[in-house]
Amino acid sequence: METQTHEIGMIGLGVMGRNMLLNMADHGFPVAGYDKDPAKVEALQKESAGMNVRSAGDIEDFIALLRAPRAVMMLVPAGPPVDSVIADLLPHLDKGDLIIDAGNSYFKDTIVRARNLAAKGIQFLGVGVSGGEEGARHGASIMPGGPKESYERVRPLLEAVAAKVAGEPCVAYLGPGASGHFVKTVHNGIEYAVMQLLAETYDLMKRGLGLGTNELRDVYAAWNQGELNSYLVEITSQIFGTVDDRTGNPLIDVLLDVAKQNGTGMWTSQSAMELQVPVPTIDFAVTMRDLSVLVQQRDTASEIYQRPTPPFTGDRKAFLEQLGHALYAAMITAYAQGMAVLASASEKFEFGLDLEAVARIWRGGCIVRAALLEDIRLAYRNQPGLPNLILAPELSKKVIANEDALRSIVRSAIELGVPTPCFMTALSYLDGYRSAWLPANLIQAQRDYFGAHTYSRIDVKGTYHTEWKKP
Ligand code: 6PG
Repeated sequence: METQTHEIGMIGLGVMGRNMLLNMADHGFPVAGYDKDPAKVEALQKESAGMNVRSAGDIEDFIALLRAPRAVMMLVPAGPPVDSVIADLLPHLDKGDLIIDAGNSYFKDTIVRARNLAAKGIQFLGVGVSGGEEGARHGASIMPGGPKESYERVRPLLEAVAAKVAGEPCVAYLGPGASGHFVKTVHNGIEYAVMQLLAETYDLMKRGLGLGTNELRDVYAAWNQGELNSYLVEITSQIFGTVDDRTGNPLIDVLLDVAKQNGTGMWTSQSAMELQVPVPTIDFAVTMRDLSVLVQQRDTASEIYQRPTPPFTGDRKAFLEQLGHALYAAMITAYAQGMAVLASASEKFEFGLDLEAVARIWRGGCIVRAALLEDIRLAYRNQPGLPNLILAPELSKKVIANEDALRSIVRSAIELGVPTPCFMTALSYLDGYRSAWLPANLIQAQRDYFGAHTYSRIDVKGTYHTEWKKP
């Protein structure tokens, strides 16, 4: 067996790991893969026939294939599997070797792993990868974080396997420590919000207007031709055009109405809460997945509470047009909420994020790629310190142009009894954020009333307390 000739090794030969390796090999990099599961090793052998790809079912054989100083990427499920792979690897590594965790790891785990590995002289990169199986195989959006010199070692490889937009690779060094995994987590938070917004448009059109799957397919396809152009809108149209082999009916109609999750959306909400950054649309996207799981309870409740079902009496064409505009405004606020988390985290954790670069590498390959991201990129290019995207002149014009539609859709949803919490929170976020005055003075007064927490005043500096209770 040739030894020490392969540029990078991959641990975890599930579809993502295999596809990423094949993508690397396509770009001329000699690569090696390892998995404990012989079936996965075999799958790689089959798929890589004739390519410069080696595979091993034994960790020593695998390590022997790698050129020193070694670079090993892992694509395994987040959590304990990452630690177990690191533990298996460590006895075989030398100082200066590099481990790359390309999974959806929780950023606080990445901080701990990086610290522990650095103490052993092992370099560590936490790299977010988006784009699913297709992205891994043909071009992903790649979000690396960790020591800059470690990134430089694998930069040509990552640039090669990244998606390209206007000739530019969708990868950029994001910052130290867990910045890459943090950015990927927030990417997924935005992904959850846009998916839930799309689900709400589906509900409004299905239960509100009574549209069938072919009509739904056409609406999303038409939306994808305009300013809503995005990967998630595109696949939604394709989903409504897919027929079930088993029944011959639209496949969507035989799918259980339960949405699972692997944690990234929840981590975005948790982190945002800790950073005190409001992200209500992302929060509700997570909440609605949680609500969807309560199948039995929803069933019981549906017997107790009848949903108002007034027939839709408006102009359908006008409603659909408004819905598209409302979706666009809501999408802008969802991206704005996610980017605000990144801005705050960057300061708190000293990531030094360049938000223009984040928007740039999200324009291709990833799940939230959308025409809108070019506008977002330009907004940050023009104003790198922008505190919130909806303050950017070009984006604010778009929000203002679509705001009436958003308000009108929320009004219709209330009348139709269709749950649209992400549309509602997008609107409330906007209404709250643009309020030069909020009723928080009352909350100050209440806190001071029952807890003597003191309050601040508009006319004089300092903290004050009042004995509110009348004797
Ligand atoms: C991506 C996806 C990917 C994965 C998510 C789905 O960017 O390619 O986000 O990472 O599909 O883990 O997340 P849930 O399982 O939580 O929906």
